[in-house]
Amino acid sequence: MTNKSYVMWNNKGGVGKSTITFHIASAYAEKHPERDVIVIDMCPQANSSSMLMGGGRESEDALQYLISKPEPQTIVGYITAETLTGNADIKQFITQVATINSNLSENLYLISGDGNLELIAPLLSQRAGATPLSSSDNPWIKIHTIIKNLTEKRIDEDRPCTYFIDTNPSFAIYTQLAIVGGQELLVPVNADDSSIFAITGLFNLIWGSIDIHPVYGKYTFAEKAKDHGLSLPKISYLLGNRFTQKIGAANAFKALSDEAIGRMFTEYEDDPNKFESRGVTIRTKDDFERAYSVELRDFNSAGVVAANQGIPLSKMTQHTYEVYGMKIQVSKEQRELCKKAIDDLVAKL
Ligand SMILES: Nc1ncnc2c1ncn2[C@@H]1O[C@H](COP(=O)(O)OP(=O)(O)OP(=O)(O)O)[C@@H](O)[C@H]1O
Ligand SMILES: [Mg+2]
Repeated sequence: MTNKSYVMWNNKGGVGKSTITFHIASAYAEKHPERDVIVIDMCPQANSSSMLMGGGRESEDALQYLISKPEPQTIVGYITAETLTGNADIKQFITQVATINSNLSENLYLISGDGNLELIAPLLSQRAGATPLSSSDNPWIKIHTIIKNLTEKRIDEDRPCTYFIDTNPSFAIYTQLAIVGGQELLVPVNADDSSIFAITGLFNLIWGSIDIHPVYGKYTFAEKAKDHGLSLPKISYLLGNRFTQKIGAANAFKALSDEAIGRMFTEYEDDPNKFESRGVTIRTKDDFERAYSVELRDFNSAGVVAANQGIPLSKMTQHTYEVYGMKIQVSKEQRELCKKAIDDLVAKL
């Protein structure tokens, strides 16, 4: 069995990247005890790291502890070590989250997010843009494949790994590293125009636009990736997040969902090679929707409890939870619906 890697990205913020990363990574780890599951948190806000480390104040302390080590036990520590030695040991940078959050399985690991990603970003750009020393030296590729090379590593040689990479919405250099690191790209969208417009932006940023700017065009990530023959992830699923939400808004949400799927389908018709092959014939938008889109419902109070306490849906068995001193009710029926939506997605991965 080989390693797998999924990156979650949309150029629009707040669409649910970190929330979905937490839920699918925890469910995937439960369902795949034969694999080690590693979340790489490539967002300086480190939201998915917090959830994995149990949420709330304690997770802030745990995160601070990892970031403040002389050699940070975070993604910044890893990137720095790999840049300097080309041979960083993954074991020094992972955290087995079950040691901090007992709700999670033992085969789930985190390479924690770190606010200092922002600080090292200009240094990475400088290194990536350096003049090659020889014909075999390629600083741009060396920097841009740091995460891709990481996802080929294993904690234990006998156990394949599945990586889930959470990202920042900006197309900063560290986001570029994250995107290049995924074999498959998951694209969450919300039922609003701005996250749907962002789909077009996403294609332009990763693969380039048809109209290349005469001055800035050659500096883009897309052009450089083409020049260097860098392989890019295949689009795996469009995740309509919180589409099943307000009773009565069904028609409005359907219209937005149709628009999002229509945009993706246009891109598919233009170049199916940008998409993961599903081995089925795709002729119509409906075929495309069945093969490449998944709807995730609004988690409501279950989502609040999960984020605040780092509890995956499979372990949320109580009826009432306390969040910042307030009692919150999670109905069994609602939790089961959310769990099914996540499990269905995980079964497709
Ligand atoms: N399916 C869902 N049901 C209920 N709430 C959700 C759902 N998905 C996301 N949320 C909520 O929406 C907000 C944004 O989600 P999240 O932080 O995961 O987005 P993001 O894309 O990671 O944001 P950013 O771009 O800032 O990294 C959070 O408050 C989260 O709890
Ligand atoms: Mg996030």
